[in-house]
Order: sequence, then structure tokens, then C-alpha cells
Amino acid sequence: MAGEGLAVEVAGLKLRSPTMNASGVLGMSAPLLKRVYDSGAGAVVTKSLGPAARSGHINPTVIEVEGGILNAMGLPNPGIEGYLEELRELKGEGVPVVASFFATTVPEFQSDAKALARAGADALELNLSCPNVGGEPGMCAADALSVERVTRSVKQVVQIPVFVKLSPNVTDIAGIAVAAEKGGADAITAVNTLKAMAIDADFRRPVLSNVTGGLSGSAIKSVALRCVWEIAEVVKVPIIGCGGVSNWRDAIEYMLAGASAVEIGTAVMNHGFEVYGKVNDGVTRYLSDNGLGSVSEVVGLAHKR
Ligand code: DHB
Repeated sequence: MAGEGLAVEVAGLKLRSPTMNASGVLGMSAPLLKRVYDSGAGAVVTKSLGPAARSGHINPTVIEVEGGILNAMGLPNPGIEGYLEELRELKGEGVPVVASFFATTVPEFQSDAKALARAGADALELNLSCPNVGGEPGMCAADALSVERVTRSVKQVVQIPVFVKLSPNVTDIAGIAVAAEKGGADAITAVNTLKAMAIDADFRRPVLSNVTGGLSGSAIKSVALRCVWEIAEVVKVPIIGCGGVSNWRDAIEYMLAGASAVEIGTAVMNHGFEVYGKVNDGVTRYLSDNGLGSVSEVVGLAHKR
């Protein structure tokens, strides 16, 4: 459980530890997210919720590749209304919940944000960066002005912190992060999955029904770390690192690059729910071995030359 010095404050949210699950991997069932919390995570993050129920893409939607997982689920979810009961259940258990969500239009973003805040979400994470739904909610994260506008519209209607999750599939992620900050983002989550694909040599076809998908896991860690680094050079708001964290050393590297907390997703598949507790223990040990009193003393240290 949370050791001394492990507590962090992210955008006004006091968390007992700097680890969370990454949106998506464990879906959103309350009992599974509760297990993440019981392992020591500071908060849990739901799979992205949308304005209406969606069944997602047809199979195959997930495949294991070298160093990670490739998925194109197509944002399946029960719709925000269909999830509120589950959210209340988690809140009833005392679990801090970050509700990830997406929408297509500004009014939808606003009404969804209000519904999630009313149901007790402790923070929102705007998924502006799913690589798998061309056109519609899609890659708003590729356009700085859209990111700023959507962020501002959500900030106008809720009091709780708003994290904006960015895509690595852009030319200038630092510029997009600045736009999110201008729009009022309370934190930046960096990053979502990398757009990728797999082809089956025997069938001579793409493996995923959607052809392309989002790559997660250790294969993307150095890309995601570079994104956090670049963002940390230009924004003041806290950064939540995400991408290929599977042990305490990865988490510390993200903190040194500028992250105040990390989200762990794919590693749960290989290491089980215990991964959150193990990363926390390793971070605690690193702090004491290096004479550091808290995670906040590590954040951004690698930038100080
Ligand atoms: C999906 C959504 C994402 O944001 C992502 O990074 C990968 C997959 C999806 O549901 O398809």
C-alpha cells in the first residue's frame, strides 16, 4: 500500500500514490477497477465513454505483437447514461474515479461532462485521440484549435479537474499541449496509443478488422517518454505519463521527464493487478535510496542541467 512520500497532487486532486490504470485495458466494470485500486493505484480511469452506446468493431479487435498489444476496439461502451450506476458503485467504495470520455460535437462534450461530474467523477479525461474511428470523434487531437476549443467548452461546464489525453500521432505534440493548456486543461495525459498495424503472412491480409489499430506496451515507451519530455518543456500544468510503464524504473523515468503520475495499462496483462503496488513500492524505495522526500521532488529533474 501507499508508502511515505508516495502521495501526489495532480491538478488539485490528492492521490495516495502516483499510479493509475490507463483507460481501456480493463474496460470499465466496477469490480475490476476496484481491484486496480486495491492493488495501490491512486485513482482508476474508466474506458472511454461516449454519448450513446456503441458495440465497437467486429473481431479481430486485439492482437499481441512484439513488445505490446495492438487494438482497434472501436470505442465500445454502454453510453454515459448506461454507465452512471457503475460509476456510483465505484464512488460508493471510496475509489477516486477519472472518467474518460469522447464525443463528436461541442454540445455533446458539454452534456456528457456535466453528467459524469454530477454522477461523482473526481476528474475527467478527454479522449481526443482514439486512432480507430476515422471521421467522427476521431483525431481531434491532431488539430490545435479543436483541442483548445473542446477543452475550453468542457471547462466551462464542470468544476472538477479536466485532463486532456493527447495523441503521439502528430507532428508537434508540444504545440498541441500548449493549445490544451490555453483551453484550460488542468493536466495533460501523454500519450494515447501509436497508430500501427499487423499483417498475417499466411492469410495475406491485415489482422485487425479495422486494418489499423493503436499500439500500446513497452514497444512505445521511448516514444511516449519523448512526448512527455517535449510537453514538459512548454507547459506548466501537470503531466500524466502513459505508455509502456511496467515497472518502477519506467515510472521514475517518466517522472524525471516531467510526469507527476503515470498510467499503467498493457503491463496488467503480463504482470497482473499487482503491478500497481509493485511500481509504488519501487518508487518508494527509489525515493528513500536517493534521499528524496516525495515524488514531486523527482518531477522534471532530468531537465535541470
Ligand atoms: C481504442 C481507443 C483508444 O483511445 C485507443 O488508444 C485505442 C483503441 C478503441 O476503442 O478502439
